[in-house]
Amino acid sequence: MKLVLAATGASGTIYLQRLLAQIDPTQHEIHLVLSKHAQQVAAQECDRLEIPAGVKEHAENDLNVPFVSGSARFDAMVIAPCSMASLGRIAAGTSDSALLRAADVFLKERRKLILVPRETPWSLIHARNVVTLLEAGAIVLPAIPSFYSRPQTVNDVADTVVWRILDQIGLPNPRAYRWKDQ
Ligand SMILES: Cc1cc2nc3c(=O)[nH]c(=O)nc-3n(C[C@H](O)[C@H](O)[C@H](O)COP(=O)(O)O)c2cc1C
Repeated sequence: MKLVLAATGASGTIYLQRLLAQIDPTQHEIHLVLSKHAQQVAAQECDRLEIPAGVKEHAENDLNVPFVSGSARFDAMVIAPCSMASLGRIAAGTSDSALLRAADVFLKERRKLILVPRETPWSLIHARNVVTLLEAGAIVLPAIPSFYSRPQTVNDVADTVVWRILDQIGLPNPRAYRWKDQ
């Protein structure tokens, strides 16, 4: 698969870290884009974002990348975590960075765009932006962990969200806990 993984400045760098850890870059082409604020939040939340060898990292504003054009074929884009600021910009059709333009392209090309917002509580503006994105075909998968698998570590908690992201991409983790499946 050809994938774009991105992060914007919401809390939850761990979701991106766990996602990167569970997609094999030798099997899939992975492009990574972090917004300036995502980098700031990452520095606050973890010592260092570990980027596996083979993952192609791009600057937020580098339009010299394949996924900002509809002509380049990609399978899915994930923004995890997704700030409400970026979610609102995507809902408004603003595409003035490579990251936002990519999201705009995935929507217009009817490709899979998976947004993982983390904010609480929501304002009516947040809710309306989410509705706009759902109507435009995005998958909105909030960073809301589940606990019925009895997660023991912070990574385990994050994985309850990451496994749902992987299901949506179409790369399910065989180790994912599934209710009444064991
Ligand atoms: C430590 C920290 C945590 C933040 N957490 C969130 C959050 O959980 N959700 C959110 O929508 N914004 C959060 N923000 C605010 C965003 O970073 C801010 O709106 C920023 O402009 C988003 O820019 P970006 O979407 O271009 O990355 C946080 C900011 C900081 C400094």
